[in-house]
Amino acid sequence: MLEHLDRLPPDPILGVMAAFRADADPRKVDLGVGVFRDDAGETPVMRAVREAERELLARQTTKTYVAAAGNAGFNEAMERLVLGQGHAALTSGRLRTIQAPGGCGALRLGAELILRAAPDTVVHVSTPTWANHVPLLSNCGLKLERYPYFDPATGDVAFDAMLGALDRLPPRAVVLLHASCHNPTGADLEDAQWRELLGVVRRRSLLPFIDIAYQGLGRGAAEDAYAARLFCTELPEVLVAVSCSKNFGLYRERTGALHVLSATPAAADAAISQLMRIARGLYSMPPDHGAAIVHAILGDGRLRKAWEEELDAMRSRIQQLRAAAVQRLTVTCPGKDFGYIARQRGMFSYLGVDVQAVRELRERHHVYMMDDSRINVAGLRMDNIGYFAQAVGQVVGQGQPREG
Ligand code: LMR
Repeated sequence: MLEHLDRLPPDPILGVMAAFRADADPRKVDLGVGVFRDDAGETPVMRAVREAERELLARQTTKTYVAAAGNAGFNEAMERLVLGQGHAALTSGRLRTIQAPGGCGALRLGAELILRAAPDTVVHVSTPTWANHVPLLSNCGLKLERYPYFDPATGDVAFDAMLGALDRLPPRAVVLLHASCHNPTGADLEDAQWRELLGVVRRRSLLPFIDIAYQGLGRGAAEDAYAARLFCTELPEVLVAVSCSKNFGLYRERTGALHVLSATPAAADAAISQLMRIARGLYSMPPDHGAAIVHAILGDGRLRKAWEEELDAMRSRIQQLRAAAVQRLTVTCPGKDFGYIARQRGMFSYLGVDVQAVRELRERHHVYMMDDSRINVAGLRMDNIGYFAQAVGQVVGQGQPREG
């Protein structure tokens, strides 16, 4: 039976990750998979995570099952982290949370819940969006459509086009929104634009499904959650998929959560009962370790402060790398304007070159990025930005390098 299966190409992002690892050239630069790196090129275990983990292992007495919805303490801590202390939804009786295997697990759980609520629902995702949004949201059978999002000419959100498209959707359409640090473009909505979008979502009775995978890596932990906080204040129903991969550096521990805000407490109870049944049928229960670490950090004032400081340092590093990349690229590619990279937020930006240039950068210079030229800015180092910019200059630079 299995001999008829087609062989598939590697996943676009994980394929680049594997190709980079297999490259033995010491000059290689990894701008592919979205992981944070320090100036030594490592993705370190965060200090607060290391400490919480040590304490956790010392006091853990059992590996028995936790619960169908995961770690209740983690779930509550995530609600407060995302929505902020004192948010009205926390005491409304309308919010429920299920721990999930990473942000991916949360997205899939949300999609399955939507499917059970209304199987004909269409989920609208931005053009472009994270490559894995497509299988995560559609493999369960939901239909996917696109709305315009990015203007490559300016490097900003094509806000009018986005708003216009969403304002034509039928009631109960689902709109997937990146809360911050848009993947792959790095172009985010400003707070005033979120408020304008809220008006459209409300008027058209759309269901927002917010993906927050980079909280703290854009403008700040509260600022990056602005959309989730606003929409959960103003709307009857919202889904929020959360990932702890990047802001806690817990990638392989698969730590995330799905928050569901329902119109009434009874509807919220029904939603969480459905989610627990869905999870049971997919993977039974989420892995414990990462969630236990996050719970320990967020519940301890000292560890939390240490985590916040490290997260702030990660965010500043990304901002410095963005500024340094623009400065170097301006020298090696005088004909191109890369200023948008410094304005954008989070890990990703487009370099804005074609697939041939991407291949040449990989083959001739060992610089790895996605085929659509998405770069993980956090993969640069101060000591290889010059090499990276030279390589880009050689492949796509126009005109003579300026002095500088
Ligand atoms: C990325 O976009 O590179 C990250 O979110 C990692 C992944 O799983 O794709």
